[in-house]
Amino acid sequence: MGELDGRTALVTGGSRGIGRAVALRLAAEGALVAVHYGGNDAAAAEAVALIAGAGGRAFAVRARFGESGGVDRLFEGLTAGLAEHGADGLDILVNNAGIHSVSSIGQLTEEEFERLLAVNVSAPVFVVQRALPLLRDGGRIVSIGSAATRIAAAGQIGYTVTKAALAALGPSLANELGRRGITVNTVAPGVVRTDMIAGYTSAPEAMAGLESITALGRIGEPEDIADVVGFLAGPQGRWVTGQTIDVSGGTYLGPITAG
Ligand SMILES: NC(=O)c1ccc[n+]([C@@H]2O[C@H](COP(=O)([O-])OP(=O)(O)OC[C@H]3O[C@@H](n4cnc5c(N)ncnc54)[C@H](OP(=O)(O)O)[C@@H]3O)[C@@H](O)[C@H]2O)c1
Repeated sequence: MGELDGRTALVTGGSRGIGRAVALRLAAEGALVAVHYGGNDAAAAEAVALIAGAGGRAFAVRARFGESGGVDRLFEGLTAGLAEHGADGLDILVNNAGIHSVSSIGQLTEEEFERLLAVNVSAPVFVVQRALPLLRDGGRIVSIGSAATRIAAAGQIGYTVTKAALAALGPSLANELGRRGITVNTVAPGVVRTDMIAGYTSAPEAMAGLESITALGRIGEPEDIADVVGFLAGPQGRWVTGQTIDVSGGTYLGPITAG
């Protein structure tokens, strides 16, 4: 028996990286998982196959955020997929899909910022709005923010602002939904080894720099984040709500001095 047997989950951007690890984690606990993705069919099919291969249940839903009707398409696919699997409501929503950009304030263009806002903020806001009628009492909402909002990372200002906006959903929604036993939290990873940061992981000097400012001495793996999301999404996370939880291995806590 898994602790999420009989539960349903939607993981946006569940086909790759952190989202895939979250989808695998929730499915391993017994949840039926909707693996949302934007366009990479092969990656989504692989994520669903990995879940099925491990004895779990999942289906893929394609919907491109930042395009007109993207959120509508997600919910059409979600409700159809749930019905195909004999389910109808939602217990867990993980707002994970997101895009990155590397621009200082001087470099950021309006077009780039609007795209960041559309995918990283507008999409999850309206995904939550559309999910609420489906979300059962005792449900969970977890959004993936970023430790960039705690660390002054000047080279990704547009991205950082969008992640701060996403985290700001937490406390207000937590108050609004708390009487129904629904918790709302944000998980804020530091640097995690995914396609999104391939530019860093392929540069040894960048990796050495990141490791040198992280208390636990390495960058994160997707499973490091998925375990915390799994905790918040499960029964043991019932008394945590309205919080942003830093999951960065202690990135940039202050100067590190040798023991
Ligand atoms: N990696 C890090 O170091 C790090 C650190 C802090 C926070 N985060 C946050 O964690 C989340 C996941 O990051 P990741 O590194 O796992 O990213 P990733 O490996 O690039 O995967 C991104 C996922 O989001 C989907 N996606 C991207 N753009 C989309 C769009 N416009 N519409 C719909 N789906 C879209 C992708 O689907 P397709 O491939 O089909 O488009 C994919 O499933 C993001 O919110 C990110 O900001 C990441």
